[in-house]
Amino acid sequence: MKKIVFLTGAGMSVESGFKTFRGNDGLWENYPVEQVASHEGWEANPTLVNNFYNNLRKKLYAAEPNEGHRLIKDLEKDYDVSVITQNVDNLHEKAGSSKVIHLHGELTKVCSSNAPYDSRYIRELPPEACEVDPGARAGDGSLLRPFIVFFGEAVPMIEPAAGIAAQADFFVIIGTSLNVYPAAGLVQYTRPDIPVYLIDPDDVPSGSLQRVTHIRKGASEGMKDLVKILRTDGRP
Ligand code: OAD
Repeated sequence: MKKIVFLTGAGMSVESGFKTFRGNDGLWENYPVEQVASHEGWEANPTLVNNFYNNLRKKLYAAEPNEGHRLIKDLEKDYDVSVITQNVDNLHEKAGSSKVIHLHGELTKVCSSNAPYDSRYIRELPPEACEVDPGARAGDGSLLRPFIVFFGEAVPMIEPAAGIAAQADFFVIIGTSLNVYPAAGLVQYTRPDIPVYLIDPDDVPSGSLQRVTHIRKGASEGMKDLVKILRTDGRP
């Protein structure tokens, strides 16, 4: 089976009711990124950070995947599909995608602030108890924190993601401004001869994407176009 690798960002979930981060009315305009998504912000005010992700988590549990997520999942009938996402939501999984790598963490989970990747202390919060109380502790006694990769922290999942990108027969980028590294550099790991598609209604400034076919649409409409293109150019 041919391998399709998707790299998705905040634009993927816009049609499910989520805001993007950058641009007009983006999330970072209303909640300064240094406060809610940086290592220093967490150290300075963990309660504020936990409350921010508590609210997002509540919203996520009420959200549904959109047509774009579903069309990605449907491609599994004919292709070996991997999704590498910068999103912390679980909408790819909820749509049924079976191989999803989260580069920036997972909103549904919490972890130890001393050892965020110690699997003994990573817990999934169920919808009925999805808020972290201020001061709640992980199993090792440290403060519970959202399982989110903050700015200023390492991105351990980039290594497996790069390995998957290197095997792609098709690489598809959806809804990311490609501002944040190392995620934005993943396309560099693909073989130089494979087709690369970009689904985004806006320009995505990037000098490194010369061989990209830009489908200038939102995620769902763009995925419909991609499915048609694959039917003619990309037989499984
Ligand atoms: P951005 O907010 O930077 O970019 C979102 C992209 O989605 C833009 O290029 C928009 O044009 C596009 N877009 C808007 N509506 C869309 C739609 N309906 N369909 C498809 N695309 C649409 O978000 P990211 O690139 O994902 O990190 O941001 C990367 C990282 O920066 C995030 O993972 C987050 C943030 O800080 C962390 O929280 C660690």
